[in-house]
Amino acid sequence: MTDDLFSAVNEADRVQRLRAQLHHHAHRYYVLDEPEIPDAEYDKLFQELQALEATHPELASPDSPTRRVGGQALAHFASVRHAVPMLSIRTETDTEATGAEAFDARVRRELGLQPENDPVVYVGELKFDGLAINLRYEHGSLVQAATRGDGEVGEDVTQNIRTIGQIPLRLQGAQPPVLEVRGEVYMRRDDFEALNERQRNKIAQGAKNEKTFVNPRNAAAGAVRQLDPGIAAQRPLSFFAYGLGDVQLAPGVAPPQTHHAWLMQLRDWGLPVAPQTRLARGAAELVAFHREMGQGRDALPFDIDGVVYKVNSLALQRQLGFVTREPRWAVAHKYPAQEQLTTVLAIDVQVGRTGKLTPVAKLAPVFVGGVTVTNATLHNEDEARRKDVRVGDTVVVRRAGDVIPEVVSVVADKRMHEGMLFTMPACCPVCGSAAVREEGEADHRCSGGLFCPAQRKEAILHFAHRRAVEIEGLGDKLVDQLVDANLIRNLTDLYRLGLSALLNLERMADKSANKLLEAIERSKQTTLARFIFGLGIRHVGEATAKELARHFGKLDAVMDATEEQLLEVADVGPVVAQSIHTFFGQAHNREVVEQLRALGLSWPEGEPAARAVLPLTGKTLVITGTLPSLSRDEAKDRIEAAGGKVAGSVSKKTDYLVAGAEAGSKLTKAQELGVAILDETQLLELLNGGA
Ligand code: IVH
Repeated sequence: MTDDLFSAVNEADRVQRLRAQLHHHAHRYYVLDEPEIPDAEYDKLFQELQALEATHPELASPDSPTRRVGGQALAHFASVRHAVPMLSIRTETDTEATGAEAFDARVRRELGLQPENDPVVYVGELKFDGLAINLRYEHGSLVQAATRGDGEVGEDVTQNIRTIGQIPLRLQGAQPPVLEVRGEVYMRRDDFEALNERQRNKIAQGAKNEKTFVNPRNAAAGAVRQLDPGIAAQRPLSFFAYGLGDVQLAPGVAPPQTHHAWLMQLRDWGLPVAPQTRLARGAAELVAFHREMGQGRDALPFDIDGVVYKVNSLALQRQLGFVTREPRWAVAHKYPAQEQLTTVLAIDVQVGRTGKLTPVAKLAPVFVGGVTVTNATLHNEDEARRKDVRVGDTVVVRRAGDVIPEVVSVVADKRMHEGMLFTMPACCPVCGSAAVREEGEADHRCSGGLFCPAQRKEAILHFAHRRAVEIEGLGDKLVDQLVDANLIRNLTDLYRLGLSALLNLERMADKSANKLLEAIERSKQTTLARFIFGLGIRHVGEATAKELARHFGKLDAVMDATEEQLLEVADVGPVVAQSIHTFFGQAHNREVVEQLRALGLSWPEGEPAARAVLPLTGKTLVITGTLPSLSRDEAKDRIEAAGGKVAGSVSKKTDYLVAGAEAGSKLTKAQELGVAILDETQLLELLNGGA
């Protein structure tokens, strides 16, 4: 008796806790678009509560999350009562192919079909991972777009939906009096990655109130519910139609009799229908569809979390009807989740081929999106700190498509001990050279380009480039071979290569080995500009290298120049000056240069030459916002190559502000100070020597 009483109390307690947790997470998910836990985790809690309520009817409550399917309307948007409720769909929890068989068996039983009857025809669709939208067309014009909300009442998001290019504002062809199209607004993975990259750059440049998005679905949901349609327009969204709401056809027009025919009709009206949508006869073809789409999932340009099967015949759909709010004629069949929880075992820093330092979380192995993941990127120092990922934390990991797995967020209430806020090491973990983060940049970079083993392949390739020191025939395959066989560890080893070592390489015949050695020998006679360019100093392109060579005349003068002296060079601004100074400040880099000279590399040296007058000599420019065609780096390079300097902030000393889309406070400041403002076209004119 006491035991029973005990467990009853425990269960009531558990139900209360589950409801509180689910309310909390539902709010974060539906209202704030900032979930803390993966969907699969939410589903688990939800199912546990459902099970408890089923076995303990006395614990039922009208305000339980199980009684309402998510999503309060936000106060800011007008409410829309759906003419036809937006239903949800049953989920087949069996992730194996047998889920399709179970669905078919259920449909056949409900329809009273016998084994000898024909197979039921279905439509196989993708289950897009975005948010459901109802589009209302009246006499062919889009008059309203609404979110699903609680299924009865949603939000009027017409302004934002109008910004989606794929959604026709007018239907093509014959126009029905009323047509409601239902479908999914989503964000492509490449658009999502690009958006987050832009967000990270904005944050690196000091933008407040900006954040990165957790996944494409949340980015899409955030964009749809963005109150400023101008911002929504900059968040690239896409759409697929998959169903209907209220429909009134013109008198005398015969409606399609199957779901598939309706989808084809929608396509004719100009609405996007996923090309993967197809008819499937019976369970076997559904199983094949499930398998094929699962195999092709990573290669799709957008996220799906499963497939959907729908009975094709509308007459059979009517016969099957609904259970509570879910149709008996459709089911969602899920794939393994693309987000999972795991723990952080360590945070390492990896060095890429170009010297970029990336913090990487080492994880307790976890099965995500179909593969086991043990590493996930934290992108950069700011991201790692903003997400506040610490060793021992429980984190959400996301892996979708070919995108590198990433840590999305930390589950705050699972932190057991404090740990330390992540800090980027001051030195490259591979070679010990100084790790540098430039102003306005999100990434740290290793400054030991010539010496760092992580960068050696890139360094050798760059040095051997046709426009640098030029070693004919030394391309990336050969560099891979030479480095992987440990024949060269850094640039200097290139000039120590002998014939016998080369002949040990696979597919290396006498003739090609000799040709390579001759090309290496020839490269020893070069020019100072080519040599400087070949060193691969960050921000030192060909033009800058030439300018440095002309200005200083001798390599030693470049190597020993102070930042102030470097700033006197025609196209060298503060960022470039610092980069050159740091590079030659690394003892290892200098050693490599000395060894190259000792190995016979030489060039004519001269006297310092007079400074050339370039179109932007003496001018200081500031760049803000996103330019239509030039990246931030390209614009900066070109300004510097034209003799100008690029500064990080607007002041009285600024000559021009180059402003692109989403220009913010810098633009306002420039206007206040009366600084001349240029768009990209005007900048290009100026670079070409125009007024
Ligand atoms: S049909 C009556 N088809 O999944 C059937 N839904 O609850 C209504 N979804 O929020 C839904 N892809 O946004 C349907 N091909 C598809 C879908 C799909 C994604 C979403 C939909 C809804 C949820 C189902």
